[in-house]
Amino acid sequence: MTDSSLDARYRALHRLDSPANRAIRADIWPPEDDIGQQSFITPRYVDELARRAGIGPDDHVLDVGSGAGGPALYLAETTGCRVTGIDPNEVGVEVAEGLADAAGLGDRLRFDCADAMRMPYADGTFTAALSLNVVNVIEDKVGLFREVRRVLGQRGRWALLTGTFELGDGDDELRRRLTRDHTVPLHDDTAERYRAMLVEAGFVVDEITEYVSDFRTQIARWGAANRAHIDALRAEQGATPAERHLAYFDAYLELVDAGRAANHLFLTTAGSPP
Ligand SMILES: C[S@@+](CC[C@H](N)C(=O)[O-])C[C@H]1O[C@@H](n2cnc3c(N)ncnc32)[C@H](O)[C@@H]1O
Repeated sequence: MTDSSLDARYRALHRLDSPANRAIRADIWPPEDDIGQQSFITPRYVDELARRAGIGPDDHVLDVGSGAGGPALYLAETTGCRVTGIDPNEVGVEVAEGLADAAGLGDRLRFDCADAMRMPYADGTFTAALSLNVVNVIEDKVGLFREVRRVLGQRGRWALLTGTFELGDGDDELRRRLTRDHTVPLHDDTAERYRAMLVEAGFVVDEITEYVSDFRTQIARWGAANRAHIDALRAEQGATPAERHLAYFDAYLELVDAGRAANHLFLTTAGSPP
């Protein structure tokens, strides 16, 4: 299960309608691009991901770490698939359920408040899975990938979008800022390590793409929007978390500029059961 400071961080972020979040989100995206995401995904990336993973009306898709549910809702609306989202953050799950009901999609969308390391689903429940900017908080990634493999049927597809990092021994100060002073875990890996871990868990890796082409722009916008609304953020979340969050975006931007951080999409297919 996630630790309490991580949970608090996401509780604050998943209140999409709070004054600070509304102002920040309006700075980052034009209204049509704000689908309730808490990540670097925008509608065109969801469209392309769904196309490349071949997701359609016959699919039942698992969204690992569904957050406030925006991407799951968008995927269900645009492809006609069913989506089950799983996230341990109860505020995210409540917001997601509200979005699904408001869209009249309660019959095709379901959100469960649980830890993806131990999912309450039978083997082979899903035809496809995705995860958008989640897995760097997970320590045992092979364990998570095996669990996703378990709930996917034969030939199930998994589209994993994640930040990838090239961090080394001398990067303690960067790590401190990226982990918001060690309150949010960062279990970073390179793209090559991800490939190896996916294979170890029983996936065939079909494609690895540096996916979010405007990643730098998005990080810069998240940082600038947090800075512009720092007083509202301080008031809502407390001064220290708000300032740590700013330092996180600054550190992330430095890494992207140095070519040491990216956002990769791994398109995979479930191979033989592990
Ligand atoms: C950066 S947010 C991304 C949310 C969503 N995928 C999106 O694109 O809007 C990361 C999410 O991962 C969730 N998370 C953290 N640990 C998890 C776990 N063990 N199982 C499932 N989700 C987890 C957090 O609660 C949070 O909602």
